[in-house]
Amino acid sequence: MRAVVLTQYGGPEVLKVSEAPDPVPGPEEIVIEVEAAGINRADLHQREGRYPPPPPAPPVEIPGLECAGTVVACGERVVEFSVGQRVAALLPGGGYAERVAVHQRLAWEVPAAQSWVEAGSTPEAYLTAYDALFDKAGLAMGQRVVIHAAAGGVGSAAVQLATAAGVRVLATAGSDEKVAWTRQLGAEVGVNYRTQDFAEAVREWTGGVGVDAVIDFVGGPYWQANCDSLKPGGTLVLVGTLGGARAEVRLGQLLQSRLTVRGTALRSRPLELKMALVQQFRQRVVPLLGSRFNPRIDRVFWWEEVAEAHRYMETNQNLGKIALAIRRTALD
Ligand SMILES: NC(=O)c1ccc[n+]([C@@H]2O[C@H](COP(=O)([O-])OP(=O)(O)OC[C@H]3O[C@@H](n4cnc5c(N)ncnc54)[C@H](OP(=O)(O)O)[C@@H]3O)[C@@H](O)[C@H]2O)c1
Repeated sequence: MRAVVLTQYGGPEVLKVSEAPDPVPGPEEIVIEVEAAGINRADLHQREGRYPPPPPAPPVEIPGLECAGTVVACGERVVEFSVGQRVAALLPGGGYAERVAVHQRLAWEVPAAQSWVEAGSTPEAYLTAYDALFDKAGLAMGQRVVIHAAAGGVGSAAVQLATAAGVRVLATAGSDEKVAWTRQLGAEVGVNYRTQDFAEAVREWTGGVGVDAVIDFVGGPYWQANCDSLKPGGTLVLVGTLGGARAEVRLGQLLQSRLTVRGTALRSRPLELKMALVQQFRQRVVPLLGSRFNPRIDRVFWWEEVAEAHRYMETNQNLGKIALAIRRTALD
């Protein structure tokens, strides 16, 4: 088969479509003929050599944490799917390829209302957002959350999921256009962090009380303002460290305000935990995909232009997801 194989780490120019071994399914795995794959920020980090795939090391390193396509082969113990079904799957890697093997319990049938590109851009972004909002932060209807990087792939999924669950959202993003877009997705308040102080906006929005949770992708530079934005007993969920991975912690504030800080990483967690999350998501969220909410696709790149797609993500211009079309039928 053909795939984007990482033979060296570096800039977008290292990404090239070349020959790779065909995947062989394990007993509980399905092989998916990939139509479309979502691009995630983590793929850029992997390309730079800063985010290796979890063990066991794959025979060749192919990026791609999510995809959608057709089942073309099933291992001997597969009971969930049969050949010919349209599926989307969470992957430990390997999505930028014509075919990929994945455990049956990391996949679900694509709802009829979703296109290939939408379905392939769903798993990593929506599972991360779902897990952060409802498992890590334990948010419920009527509570309030700050969602940073809210116009990005995971952030925009989080705004949609929170809004659908009746959680009130203050979204932050880096331009007025992005802020307006997050409000269309359902955010009650939008803050352009380049021109406004988000902690101050939280104080105004909550009458000085603070929010129940903050979903953060920025890390170090936001640490203090995040803690200051939480109400007593609130939870900070750290999903990324785009701005830096170090912070000075005022331990007294954690004590006095009874704050909880939870880190999360989807890709490196044990298979059993990923399967449990996917099964819950499959029941609660998948039936609503394509109708109640859907990934917003900013741009689709033909996969031979994968380097261009990575360069585009690096410019932080995307509103929602950037996708790769692996087969022409994904563009129909
Ligand atoms: N822990 C996990 O399991 C997990 C899973 C998936 C993703 N992630 C992480 O989540 C983050 C977002 O991923 P994504 O795929 O949604 O990326 P994305 O679509 O590229 O969105 C990221 C957005 O973050 C904003 N940003 C970038 N650098 C920033 C900075 N220094 N300060 C403030 N905002 C910044 C940019 O928007 P603005 O113009 O608004 O600044 C950018 O568009 C990444 O760090 C990724 O590694 C973690």
